[in-house]
Amino acid sequence: MRACPRGPLLVRGADVVVDDEGKEHPVGRPVVALCACDRSARKPWCDGTHKSVRRDVP
Ligand code: FES
Repeated sequence: MRACPRGPLLVRGADVVVDDEGKEHPVGRPVVALCACDRSARKPWCDGTHKSVRRDVP
């Protein structure tokens, strides 16, 4: 797993991702991007919304 600065968590080789509510999301790709900003409309996946978040907030 790798964290992108102010972006998603990149996960390699997972078969399934379990979200905060315990729901399982099958993974069909070698690498997936998980939302770390909590603003994605497609959680647990990153949808790029993090790019519009202000960058001057720590
Ligand atoms: S990290 Fe990309 S939308 Fe949240």
